[in-house]
Amino acid sequence: VDASGVRQFALVAAPGNSSMLAGKTTATWGYNGSQLGPTIRARRGEQVAFTIQNALPEPTSVHWHGMHVPAEFDGGPHQTIEAGATWKPTWTVKQPAATLWYHPHPHGSTEKHVYRGLAGMFIVDDDESDALGLPNSYGVDDFPVIVADRRFTSDGELDDTDPTDVGLLGDTIVTNGIAGAYLSVSTELVRLRLLNGSSGRLYNFGFADDRDFDVIASDGGLLTEPFAAKRIQLSPGERIEIVVAVQSGETTMLRSYPIDRFGGVEQSDAAAYGLTDSFDILELRSAARLVGSLPLPATLATIDAPNSAAAVVNREFVLQWFMINGVRMDMNRIDFTPTVDTTEVWTVHNKDNWPHNFHVHDTQFQILDIDGSPPPPALAGWKDTVYTPPGQRIRLALRFSEYTDPTFPYMYHCHLLLHEDKGMMGQFLVL
Ligand code: C2O
Ligand code: CU
Ligand code: CU
Repeated sequence: VDASGVRQFALVAAPGNSSMLAGKTTATWGYNGSQLGPTIRARRGEQVAFTIQNALPEPTSVHWHGMHVPAEFDGGPHQTIEAGATWKPTWTVKQPAATLWYHPHPHGSTEKHVYRGLAGMFIVDDDESDALGLPNSYGVDDFPVIVADRRFTSDGELDDTDPTDVGLLGDTIVTNGIAGAYLSVSTELVRLRLLNGSSGRLYNFGFADDRDFDVIASDGGLLTEPFAAKRIQLSPGERIEIVVAVQSGETTMLRSYPIDRFGGVEQSDAAAYGLTDSFDILELRSAARLVGSLPLPATLATIDAPNSAAAVVNREFVLQWFMINGVRMDMNRIDFTPTVDTTEVWTVHNKDNWPHNFHVHDTQFQILDIDGSPPPPALAGWKDTVYTPPGQRIRLALRFSEYTDPTFPYMYHCHLLLHEDKGMMGQFLVL
């Protein structure tokens, strides 16, 4: 924090050598290290300022996924940082406590940059969430868990050839950048902030012994109350926070199971898209003596949802054939212009028979219904990315607040990164 109270961060994106696989060295890209990046942490109300240096051999950008941020600092494809150049975004954090993340967003090569290792978490804190007594000591009872899949060549290098229709699928899971990861835990309750950092793979998380865990937060912050679950599904870019109880001296495995909701996908395609796979994700090894944790509170947050009855505009988004509404991304086309501080209702319809999802920059939305039914509890909180199974129609209520810009757009897109790169993306100006 500098003399004027601004929280300063410095990031350098650069190539490096990682130890992802035991006994091998893998050439990767990272922020301030050989892969991934530091966890950024800031409080609601605080001004943050970044100095971001691009030491990669090609242009990149840094996008703040889930953040309410002025469009000129959003870090999308219009904020390219040329090789050797520096970018200095700054804004004031104005949203509830949440698990957000940052990653590159260069037009047409986002999948490559993320696959090589560029991604990090951005945790927002606030007074309300601090007062709840949730596990929140970073690295003690509160852990970032970035899950991604990679394919390696026999000499341990990243294999980025042969994408499937859903993108690069790997047969090796790297959790926080490491294959075969484990975590030593020392408290009765453990909070895991799960991020699907993959290009195209979906996960269905659960524990090998089928124990219940509590789900406390979705993409944009805490839920109204915790709920118990055995499985929780995440598509690329989505986050969920869970709290799991462990016993002293035990070992338990967080796994990913076959996907439940693949709708109209044929079984043979489902296998090709990785939807039937199972993987070990992270082993939790408990200490022989655990430190006590406070019980979870019965209620977590108040959600001040946009009033969809007052929506001024309804928009429709058809996802099909690597396009949205029949067009591909064009850096010079503005698709629409929402009016600041008004509520809109968006209907997203996946007309393909393969998976997509839908992500909107700058805001968090509420899911009104999925094929006419209210969302399940995991999808009832703030979201910025939602899985759209084949054939389904999902209605969202959202508002863009405060920041207007006649020049710089925000993006909406499929977060399967191959799809995004192929043009399943559009842009809007908030006026
Ligand atoms: Cu996570 Cu437009 O991105
Ligand atoms: Cu984003
Ligand atoms: Cu897609």
